[in-house]
Amino acid sequence: MNPVIKLIQNRVSCPRLTQPAPSEGELTEIFSCAMRAPDHARLRPWRYHVVQGQAREALGEVFAQVAREGGECSEAKIDKCRNMPLRSPLMVVAVCEPQTNSKVPEIEQLLAVGAGVQNMQLAISSLGYGSVWRTGEMAHAPLVKDAFNVSDQGHIVAFLYIGTPEKVPNKPELEMAKYVKLWN
Ligand SMILES: Cc1cc2nc3c(=O)[nH]c(=O)nc-3n(C[C@H](O)[C@H](O)[C@H](O)COP(=O)(O)O)c2cc1C
Repeated sequence: MNPVIKLIQNRVSCPRLTQPAPSEGELTEIFSCAMRAPDHARLRPWRYHVVQGQAREALGEVFAQVAREGGECSEAKIDKCRNMPLRSPLMVVAVCEPQTNSKVPEIEQLLAVGAGVQNMQLAISSLGYGSVWRTGEMAHAPLVKDAFNVSDQGHIVAFLYIGTPEKVPNKPELEMAKYVKLWN
Protein backbone atom coordinates (compact mmCIF):
# COMPACT_ATOMS: atom_id res chain seq x y z
CA MET A 1 0.00 0.00 0.00
CA ASN A 2 1.17 3.53 -0.78
CA PRO A 3 2.69 4.79 2.51
CA VAL A 4 1.33 8.34 2.19
CA ILE A 5 -2.21 7.08 1.63
CA LYS A 6 -1.84 4.66 4.51
CA LEU A 7 -0.65 7.47 6.79
CA ILE A 8 -3.61 9.69 5.87
CA GLN A 9 -6.10 6.84 6.25
CA ASN A 10 -4.82 6.10 9.73
CA ARG A 11 -4.47 9.62 11.14
CA VAL A 12 -6.36 10.11 14.38
CA SER A 13 -6.49 12.95 16.85
CA CYS A 14 -4.68 12.21 20.10
CA PRO A 15 -6.04 14.15 23.07
CA ARG A 16 -3.61 12.61 25.58
CA LEU A 17 -0.13 13.88 24.79
CA THR A 18 3.12 13.82 26.70
CA GLN A 19 6.87 14.41 26.24
CA PRO A 20 8.76 14.36 23.98
CA ALA A 21 7.54 16.98 21.56
CA PRO A 22 9.05 17.29 18.07
CA SER A 23 12.61 18.65 18.07
CA GLU A 24 13.52 22.00 16.53
CA GLY A 25 14.58 20.25 13.32
CA GLU A 26 11.35 18.25 13.19
CA LEU A 27 9.35 21.43 13.77
CA THR A 28 11.07 22.99 10.78
CA GLU A 29 9.99 19.99 8.69
CA ILE A 30 6.44 20.28 10.03
CA PHE A 31 6.21 24.00 9.21
CA SER A 32 7.63 23.40 5.74
CA CYS A 33 4.59 21.16 5.18
CA ALA A 34 2.27 23.89 6.50
CA MET A 35 3.77 26.29 3.95
CA ARG A 36 2.70 23.93 1.13
CA ALA A 37 -1.01 24.39 1.80
CA PRO A 38 -3.10 25.39 -1.20
CA ASP A 39 -3.51 29.16 -1.04
CA HIS A 40 -5.61 31.13 -3.55
CA ALA A 41 -3.49 33.95 -5.04
CA ARG A 42 -0.65 32.95 -2.71
CA LEU A 43 -1.69 35.51 -0.13
CA ARG A 44 0.04 33.59 2.68
CA PRO A 45 -2.63 34.44 5.27
CA TRP A 46 -1.13 32.11 7.89
CA ARG A 47 0.90 32.96 10.98
CA TYR A 48 2.09 30.25 13.34
CA HIS A 49 3.15 30.67 16.98
CA VAL A 50 5.01 27.93 18.85
CA VAL A 51 4.18 27.79 22.55
CA GLN A 52 6.30 25.52 24.72
CA GLY A 53 8.04 25.38 28.11
CA GLN A 54 7.06 28.19 30.47
CA ALA A 55 5.22 30.04 27.73
CA ARG A 56 2.47 27.43 28.20
CA GLU A 57 2.05 28.56 31.80
CA ALA A 58 1.92 32.21 30.75
CA LEU A 59 -0.77 31.33 28.20
CA GLY A 60 -2.63 29.41 30.92
CA GLU A 61 -2.76 32.61 32.98
CA VAL A 62 -4.30 34.42 29.99
CA PHE A 63 -6.88 31.62 29.63
CA ALA A 64 -7.65 31.85 33.37
CA GLN A 65 -8.13 35.61 33.08
CA VAL A 66 -10.54 35.13 30.18
CA ALA A 67 -12.55 32.66 32.27
CA ARG A 68 -12.51 35.00 35.30
CA GLU A 69 -13.68 37.97 33.28
CA GLY A 70 -16.32 35.93 31.47
CA GLY A 71 -18.86 36.38 34.23
CA GLU A 72 -19.94 33.87 36.82
CA CYS A 73 -17.26 31.25 36.81
CA SER A 74 -16.25 28.68 39.40
CA GLU A 75 -12.66 28.34 40.63
CA ALA A 76 -12.73 24.84 39.13
CA LYS A 77 -13.47 26.24 35.66
CA ILE A 78 -10.77 28.90 36.04
CA ASP A 79 -8.25 26.18 37.02
CA LYS A 80 -9.37 24.03 34.09
CA CYS A 81 -8.72 26.90 31.69
CA ARG A 82 -5.35 27.65 33.33
CA ASN A 83 -4.29 24.05 32.76
CA MET A 84 -5.43 23.81 29.13
CA PRO A 85 -2.07 24.73 27.56
CA LEU A 86 -0.37 22.12 29.76
CA ARG A 87 -2.25 19.30 28.03
CA SER A 88 0.71 18.79 25.70
CA PRO A 89 4.41 19.71 25.77
CA LEU A 90 4.03 21.95 22.72
CA MET A 91 1.26 23.89 21.06
CA VAL A 92 1.09 25.66 17.72
CA VAL A 93 -1.36 28.53 17.56
CA ALA A 94 -2.47 28.91 13.93
CA VAL A 95 -3.69 32.37 12.98
CA CYS A 96 -5.34 33.66 9.82
CA GLU A 97 -4.65 37.29 8.93
CA PRO A 98 -6.99 37.78 5.98
CA GLN A 99 -6.10 40.33 3.36
CA THR A 100 -8.58 42.38 1.40
CA ASN A 101 -8.62 40.86 -2.07
CA SER A 102 -11.27 41.17 -4.76
CA LYS A 103 -10.82 37.53 -5.84
CA VAL A 104 -10.18 35.79 -2.56
CA PRO A 105 -12.84 36.13 0.13
CA GLU A 106 -12.00 35.65 3.79
CA ILE A 107 -13.46 32.15 3.89
CA GLU A 108 -10.93 30.96 1.31
CA GLN A 109 -8.09 32.42 3.34
CA LEU A 110 -9.39 30.64 6.45
CA LEU A 111 -9.52 27.41 4.46
CA ALA A 112 -5.91 27.90 3.36
CA VAL A 113 -4.81 28.13 6.99
CA GLY A 114 -6.98 25.09 7.81
CA ALA A 115 -5.23 23.17 5.04
CA GLY A 116 -1.90 24.19 6.55
CA VAL A 117 -2.99 22.86 9.94
CA GLN A 118 -4.04 19.57 8.36
CA ASN A 119 -0.69 19.31 6.53
CA MET A 120 0.97 19.77 9.91
CA GLN A 121 -1.17 17.07 11.52
CA LEU A 122 -0.14 14.62 8.81
CA ALA A 123 3.54 15.57 9.08
CA ILE A 124 3.33 15.20 12.88
CA SER A 125 1.82 11.70 12.51
CA SER A 126 4.45 10.70 9.98
CA LEU A 127 7.19 11.62 12.47
CA GLY A 128 5.57 9.38 15.10
CA TYR A 129 4.01 12.13 17.21
CA GLY A 130 0.37 12.94 17.86
CA SER A 131 -1.75 16.06 17.76
CA VAL A 132 -5.23 17.38 18.33
CA TRP A 133 -6.80 20.48 16.79
CA ARG A 134 -8.80 22.48 19.31
CA THR A 135 -10.48 25.86 19.33
CA GLY A 136 -13.27 26.71 21.81
CA GLU A 137 -14.05 30.04 23.46
CA MET A 138 -10.34 30.86 23.99
CA ALA A 139 -9.82 31.05 20.23
CA HIS A 140 -12.23 33.99 20.05
CA ALA A 141 -11.28 35.80 23.25
CA PRO A 142 -9.78 39.27 22.60
CA LEU A 143 -7.26 38.79 25.43
CA VAL A 144 -5.89 35.63 23.80
CA LYS A 145 -5.84 37.25 20.36
CA ASP A 146 -3.91 40.19 21.86
CA ALA A 147 -1.38 37.78 23.37
CA PHE A 148 -0.47 36.65 19.84
CA ASN A 149 -0.76 40.09 18.19
CA VAL A 150 -3.75 38.97 16.14
CA SER A 151 -5.29 41.94 14.35
CA ASP A 152 -8.96 42.94 14.70
CA GLN A 153 -9.67 41.19 11.38
CA GLY A 154 -7.58 38.13 12.24
CA HIS A 155 -8.71 34.80 13.64
CA ILE A 156 -7.17 32.07 15.74
CA VAL A 157 -7.93 29.02 13.59
CA ALA A 158 -6.37 26.34 15.77
CA PHE A 159 -4.68 25.51 19.00
CA LEU A 160 -2.76 22.50 17.73
CA TYR A 161 -1.67 20.45 20.73
CA ILE A 162 1.38 18.33 19.87
CA GLY A 163 3.40 15.66 21.66
CA THR A 164 3.86 11.93 22.02
CA PRO A 165 0.55 10.05 22.30
CA GLU A 166 -0.02 8.33 25.65
CA LYS A 167 -2.56 6.23 23.81
CA VAL A 168 -3.59 6.27 20.17
CA PRO A 169 -7.41 6.22 19.97
CA ASN A 170 -9.24 3.84 17.67
CA LYS A 171 -10.05 5.17 14.25
CA PRO A 172 -13.78 5.39 13.48
CA GLU A 173 -14.87 3.67 10.27
CA LEU A 174 -17.15 5.81 8.11
CA GLU A 175 -19.61 4.49 5.59
CA MET A 176 -18.22 6.19 2.51
CA ALA A 177 -21.36 5.89 0.38
CA LYS A 178 -23.14 8.16 2.86
CA TYR A 179 -20.78 11.03 2.07
CA VAL A 180 -19.53 10.40 -1.46
CA LYS A 181 -21.84 10.49 -4.48
CA LEU A 182 -20.69 9.57 -7.95
CA TRP A 183 -22.11 11.51 -10.89
CA ASN A 184 -21.40 9.70 -14.14
C1 LIG B 1 -11.78 23.85 13.27
C2 LIG B 1 -11.79 22.72 14.27
C3 LIG B 1 -11.95 23.00 15.61
C4 LIG B 1 -11.98 21.98 16.55
N1 LIG B 1 -12.11 22.28 17.89
C5 LIG B 1 -12.15 21.29 18.80
C6 LIG B 1 -12.22 21.59 20.18
O1 LIG B 1 -12.23 22.75 20.60
N2 LIG B 1 -12.27 20.56 21.05
C7 LIG B 1 -12.24 19.26 20.62
O2 LIG B 1 -12.28 18.36 21.46
N3 LIG B 1 -12.14 18.95 19.31
C8 LIG B 1 -12.08 19.93 18.39
N4 LIG B 1 -11.99 19.62 17.05
C9 LIG B 1 -12.06 18.20 16.63
C10 LIG B 1 -10.78 17.41 16.85
O3 LIG B 1 -9.66 18.10 16.36
C11 LIG B 1 -10.87 16.05 16.13
O4 LIG B 1 -10.92 16.21 14.75
C12 LIG B 1 -12.08 15.24 16.58
O5 LIG B 1 -11.94 14.98 17.94
C13 LIG B 1 -12.24 13.93 15.81
O6 LIG B 1 -11.11 13.13 15.94
P1 LIG B 1 -10.35 12.57 14.64
O7 LIG B 1 -9.64 13.76 14.04
O8 LIG B 1 -9.42 11.53 15.16
O9 LIG B 1 -11.39 12.01 13.73
C14 LIG B 1 -11.89 20.63 16.11
C15 LIG B 1 -11.69 20.36 14.75
C16 LIG B 1 -11.64 21.38 13.84
C17 LIG B 1 -11.42 21.07 12.37
